[in-house]
Amino acid sequence: MHVLVVLSHPDKNSFSHAIARHFMNGVEEAGHTSELADLHAEDFDPRWSLADLAQDEGLPTPADIVREQTRIDKCDAVCMVFPLFWFGMPAMLKGWIDRVWSWGWAYDQLDNHNKSLQKDRTAVMLIPAGANPESWQPYAEIEKSMLNIWQTGTLGYFGFTDKHIHFLNGSTGSKKRRTSIGEGL
Ligand SMILES: Cc1cc2nc3c(=O)[nH]c(=O)nc-3n(C[C@H](O)[C@H](O)[C@H](O)COP(=O)(O)O)c2cc1C
Repeated sequence: MHVLVVLSHPDKNSFSHAIARHFMNGVEEAGHTSELADLHAEDFDPRWSLADLAQDEGLPTPADIVREQTRIDKCDAVCMVFPLFWFGMPAMLKGWIDRVWSWGWAYDQLDNHNKSLQKDRTAVMLIPAGANPESWQPYAEIEKSMLNIWQTGTLGYFGFTDKHIHFLNGSTGSKKRRTSIGEGL
């Protein structure tokens, strides 16, 4: 299996980067292959613009989007790693999704509202969140909404049927804690 890991965090010392590295190590150890799409390091432009809209009129798909779609074509699973921002995803990743998983390539809402144009893939979301597990409990309903939106409203449209979304609570300040326990992260 080939896994595309999409990482949305500018800091190489962040918990998100550490998680992405660990996940990729695990993928390789299990005998699979992986590729990292480090959106900040690669300076991905998350702004959905007229150039994106022009595809609907038959104009060429922007080159940066073709590059991302080619990466997706090659993979059997996508893992998105991103910090929770205001009970949502960072604008960088949101823009990557909005631009890359485009109408006519990822999904087709004209004939069948729910039809995906993509093959079935596995999706994983690993989401560091600042809130500690004890303080997360009051947000159970919000968590349900996030899962619903991402499982149905995002991944569902793109053909993923096998979906795994994990919140990694208590991540704030992890660098100090990780370094102090000397796990080499
Ligand atoms: C703009 C912003 C919004 C955030 N919103 C939330 C939030 O809604 N809930 C939460 O638990 N943590 C929130 N946090 C905390 C981050 O999720 C936390 O700092 C991050 O997961 C730490 O991991 P990192 O080292 O990868 O940045 C927010 C942080 C920022 C910068």
